[in-house]
Amino acid sequence: MPLITTGPRLAVVTGASSGIGRATALHFAKAGVVVVAVARTRSALEALAKEAPEGKIVIEVCDASQADEVSAMAARVKAAHHVPDVIVNCAGLGSWKYLEDTSSSELHAMMGAPFLAAAHVTGAFLGSMIECRSGAVLHVGSPAAFQPWAGSTAYACSRFALRGLHEALRIDLIGTGVTTSHVVFGEVTSSYFDNNPGSREHLPSVGTLIPKMTPEQCAAVLWQTALHPRSEVFAPFLLRAFFWVQQWMPWLFRFLVVKTGRMRAPPAKLLKP
Ligand SMILES: NC(=O)c1ccc[n+]([C@@H]2O[C@H](COP(=O)([O-])OP(=O)(O)OC[C@H]3O[C@@H](n4cnc5c(N)ncnc54)[C@H](OP(=O)(O)O)[C@@H]3O)[C@@H](O)[C@H]2O)c1
Repeated sequence: MPLITTGPRLAVVTGASSGIGRATALHFAKAGVVVVAVARTRSALEALAKEAPEGKIVIEVCDASQADEVSAMAARVKAAHHVPDVIVNCAGLGSWKYLEDTSSSELHAMMGAPFLAAAHVTGAFLGSMIECRSGAVLHVGSPAAFQPWAGSTAYACSRFALRGLHEALRIDLIGTGVTTSHVVFGEVTSSYFDNNPGSREHLPSVGTLIPKMTPEQCAAVLWQTALHPRSEVFAPFLLRAFFWVQQWMPWLFRFLVVKTGRMRAPPAKLLKP
C-alpha cells in the first residue's frame, strides 16, 4: 500500500481493539496516518500498537459511551495532535434479543455503543473540524438500520439511531467542508458474534446469501470512503442490490426477512405496509 502524500494525517478510530475498528486502525496506520485508537481494553490496544508501524498508533483507553471520558480524550488529542481529518465510529456491541429478554442495562449499553459513542466522539471534534473547514466522519452501520429482523430489537434501535445521527449531520454539515458517511456492511468475520453470544441464531437465512467480508476488506472500504467520501456506502455489492430492492419494494424485503427469520410463531398473515 503506498504511503500517503496528501490525504488524511490524523484519524480517530473507535472500537479499535477488535474486528472492523482494529483492521481499520491498522490499515490507516500502514498508509501513514497517525491513528488515535479508542476502546476500553488497554491490553488489546497495546497489542494493536505493536503490530502497526512505530509511532502511528496513539492509544486512548476510553469508554466512548461516557461523555466525560470522551471530552477528556478529545482534549488530550487536540493538545498533542491537533484536529482529526477523519473519524471512524466503529465502537459497537449488543446481543440480538427480543425486547422482553433485554435488561435495562443491556438497553443502555446498546444505545451507548454505537449510538452515543458516535455522537460523543463526533461532537467532541466537530466544532474544530468545522473551523478547519475539512474532515470526514464515517459511521459503521448495519442492515438493521433499514430493516430489523426478528429478535434484534435493541440492536436495531441503536443502529437506527446511528443512521439518524448520520442523516441529521448530513443536513447540518452542508457547506461546512466536513462530510458524513454511513457505511453499511453485511456479515463480517470479526469476533462480533463471539463477543455478543446468542446473536448469530437470530440471523435470517436470507442474510446468508450476502457474501461475508473480512474486517480487512471492510477497512479497505472505509479507507476509500475517507479518501472519497460518499453519503451512503453498502458493501459487498449484493448488499447494495438488496437495498435498492428495499427502497422500492420495502414490503418484499420485510417478507423475506420474516419468512427466513427466527419468528416466535409462524405468521398467519403478513401486515401490509
Ligand atoms: N460483525 C458484523 O457482522 C457486522 C456487520 C455490520 C455492522 N457491524 C457493526 O460494526 C460495529 C463493530 O463491529 P465488529 O464486528 O468490529 O465487532 P467487535 O469485533 O465486537 O468490535 C467491537 C469494538 O467496539 C468496542 N467498543 C464497544 N463498546 C465500546 C465503548 N462503549 N467504548 C469504546 N469502545 C467500545 C470494542 O472494544 P472494547 O470492548 O475494548 O471497548 C471493540 O473494539 C458494530 O456496531 C456492529 O454492529 C458488524
